[in-house]
Amino acid sequence: MPKPRLVVAPGLPSAVFQSLPERFDALGGDLNMSVDEALAAVAGHRAEALLVSHRHKMTADVIARLPGHVKVLSTVTVGFDHIDVPAAKEHGLIVTNTPDVLTDCTADMAMLLMLAASRRAAEAEQLMRNGWRKSFGMGEFLGLKVTGKRLGILGMGRIGQAMAQRARGFSMQILYYNRTRLAPELELGARYFADLREMLPHCDILAIHAPATAATEKIVNAETLALLPKGAILVNTSRGQLVDEEALLAALKSGHLFAAGLDVFRSEPDFDTRFAELPNVFLTPHIGSATVETRNAMGMRALDNVFAVCSGGAAIDPL
Ligand code: DGY
Repeated sequence: MPKPRLVVAPGLPSAVFQSLPERFDALGGDLNMSVDEALAAVAGHRAEALLVSHRHKMTADVIARLPGHVKVLSTVTVGFDHIDVPAAKEHGLIVTNTPDVLTDCTADMAMLLMLAASRRAAEAEQLMRNGWRKSFGMGEFLGLKVTGKRLGILGMGRIGQAMAQRARGFSMQILYYNRTRLAPELELGARYFADLREMLPHCDILAIHAPATAATEKIVNAETLALLPKGAILVNTSRGQLVDEEALLAALKSGHLFAAGLDVFRSEPDFDTRFAELPNVFLTPHIGSATVETRNAMGMRALDNVFAVCSGGAAIDPL
């Protein structure tokens, strides 16, 4: 049986890239293609499958340009807000993502951001790089204690639950807002709020773990930020689309928020650099899943999905 013809639009981790010839007649995977380059490659290679990342905006217009020989659209990400899934299905495509494999590393990153924001890691690191040289009095360079604080989780899916599990190790009280309440064996004593607005006044730290959808667009805005207690901390490893960035900048500047830890932004990679001017923001460039182990697992899972469908089977992770 001929190997499935595949176009890989993102640059893959080397182990995943090197595995391609075993199962696929693949084009790409060694560099980041733009959407237009990927579409041209798909046509030229007569590909049955296209593998993309969150950088590739697969709008209805782009999907309409995919030739009929494409059967599978596989994203290496768990988030799929960059794909118009109804339009893709309408176009006859099977669409897949990569749940589970990045849960731990994304939750680890949220912990890192929470600790870094609360302990002023951005300022401390900058100070050391500038040579330090001046000792501090007891009352200087103070952050906020994390242990025992109240953590509000916006979106208690796989990653939210993994964040809660980690935070319990810091004796944190877990509150969560989710569309549906978890079963007691998953809730593990966390306090459920059916209304985000009711949860916010009780959060010392708010961690965003919900996907970007029409319902969550700018769910963190001037009004909801104002409901957090003064001195709260915001952590986001999900998507920038959930945050009104003007409102967040204002809350950080006014001191209503003590700090924020941000891995994701409304516009990437050309994020709003006003965040970088604020000392109370710890910034990372959308690297929540960026470990060797997890990126390999994401790449392999995306390929497994393509292979399953192209071999006549069912997708492992259909959307
Ligand atoms: C995802 O999988 O959605 C991540 O944000 C990409 O690293």
